[in-house]
Amino acid sequence: MKGLILAGGTASRLHPLTLVTNKHLLPVYDRPMIYYPIDTLRGMGIREVMVIVGGRSIGDIVELLADGGDFGLDLTYRYQRGALGIAHAIGLARDFVGDDSFCVVLGDNVLQGGHLKAVADAFETGPYDAGTLLYQVPDPERFGVAEFDDKGGLVGFEEKPKAPKSDRIPIGVYFLRPDAFDVIATLTPSGRGEFEITDVLNHYIPLGRLFWHEYDGRWTDAGTVESLLHASMLASAPQTAAE
Ligand code: DAU
Repeated sequence: MKGLILAGGTASRLHPLTLVTNKHLLPVYDRPMIYYPIDTLRGMGIREVMVIVGGRSIGDIVELLADGGDFGLDLTYRYQRGALGIAHAIGLARDFVGDDSFCVVLGDNVLQGGHLKAVADAFETGPYDAGTLLYQVPDPERFGVAEFDDKGGLVGFEEKPKAPKSDRIPIGVYFLRPDAFDVIATLTPSGRGEFEITDVLNHYIPLGRLFWHEYDGRWTDAGTVESLLHASMLASAPQTAAE
């Protein structure tokens, strides 16, 4: 399995912190934010990784991560022109991915613990074309939100709904296969002008090809001032033995 880290976007919700630098370089506790998605992919045993860069100070990201050797990774980079959405950024990795399955981690997602290797293996060996991890949050309207039927079956995801249909969201970890590039090519931008990852996931639900798993570690994004602070607290907390 290959890995993809998305480190583009405008990070306008973090102004003025991100007026002259890239969000993914900001400190989360004792390390730059982008070290956390790197840890997530390493935890799955992934070594070959592309970083999608965009926005400010992308030279600093390359200077920081270099060829990935310090992290035991083989790193490569691709530039995203504009912040056209998560699905658009993923679409840039088609040649890098080739015929392999791959895991996408959003550059502002901080995960602590969880049995990530087992989850990645379950996707890789299972009858699925796409997958994600679900997590319960108090403020689902900020995210993609999962909707379930009476029997607990997943029926769809809605991106930032005003009236969320549950409190469980897909976190920024997505398992995909090359088929996803054909799906992305058919998408149209959402009302907010972005190619949405939730539209990619939704494509696979009626086909019975979506893998989902309740994430059993601790998670936050770090894309707002409040969540950035929360991310530092999460990163500084000791892990429990179960994690
Ligand atoms: O964190 C989980 C959530 O992430 C999901 O629940 C949502 O379904 C998903 O859309 C996403 O929502 P956000 O509004 O938090 O995404 P954001 O625009 O903050 O982008 C997340 C990361 O993706 C960020 O670190 C930068 C990167 N990105 C984003 C965009 C829009 C790119 O590399 N390129 C882009 O064009």
